[in-house]
Amino acid sequence: MAYSHIAVDIKGSVGVIRLDRPKALNALCAELFMELDEALNGFEADDAIGAVVLTGSNKAFAAGADIKEMQTKTYMDVYKKNFLTGCEERVDTSRKPIIAAVAGYALGGGCELAMMCDFILAADNAQFGQPEIKLGTIPGMGGTQRLTRFVGKSKAMEMCLTGRMMGAEEAERSGLVSRIVPLDDLVDEAINVASSIAELSQPIVMMCKESVKKSYETTLAEGIMFERRVFHSTFSTEDQKEGMSAFAEKRTPDFKNC
Ligand code: HXC
Repeated sequence: MAYSHIAVDIKGSVGVIRLDRPKALNALCAELFMELDEALNGFEADDAIGAVVLTGSNKAFAAGADIKEMQTKTYMDVYKKNFLTGCEERVDTSRKPIIAAVAGYALGGGCELAMMCDFILAADNAQFGQPEIKLGTIPGMGGTQRLTRFVGKSKAMEMCLTGRMMGAEEAERSGLVSRIVPLDDLVDEAINVASSIAELSQPIVMMCKESVKKSYETTLAEGIMFERRVFHSTFSTEDQKEGMSAFAEKRTPDFKNC
């Protein structure tokens, strides 16, 4: 498929999606969401892809949902169409790891999209924020929920109520991003990290991701039980035998994804 608002590339076993709507600072219009959905579906279905990197430009990961597209929508428009629901599901339910490589602005829906990914690598110029309050609305793709889980109630509340932006250092200190990378190295580093994940056993990576995600959805006792059962199930795979044998034999494992 030819895309207008994203650029899609494959680097070894890593799928790379770059949001590419520079004139609007990668504002997330409906067509961009559809293209993102399509690209993610393609990578999800492709056995040769082990992990995905989602990035934007040096100036903006994404400056939010497209305000100009939203400004005239009515309540019935957004309610009946369940506005914004599909994309959230696609990113959130992706079984392969998705790394957000964020440079510049990640605001509103842009910040929410980054938070839907499995982890965020931030360039030193990254700016995160939920400025919807200044537009007379509130975050609509999980911002009030995910930001609060990442950075805690006080900071999330301040950010959502004031719309102020948070720089990369504060974002790292607060647990929103896993680490900061110099801007010039951001995408290469994200692809390196994604490649290192893609070299591992795909089913085991999926199980690990599922277990970490579970911690957001359930009690500690249930989460630990879920993890224990998934851990047990890894012993039914050939890759667990290969991984442990390779360690004992001092060689690199050759995972077969089964
Ligand atoms: C539509 C946008 C946009 C957006 C920027 N642009 N953000 N268009 N929707 N979210 C457009 C501008 O209109 C402008 O187009 C061009 O991109 C460049 O933007 P400037 O404002 O001129 O750039 P700059 O002065 O560098 O300021 C950058 C900025 C500012 C601070 C990021 O653009 C800004 O505040 N943008 C809005 C951020 C925001 O409120 N995001 C939340 C959106 S609501 P022209 O044609 O004039 O050149 C949201 C709802 C979430 O996300 C609900 C779930 C998704």
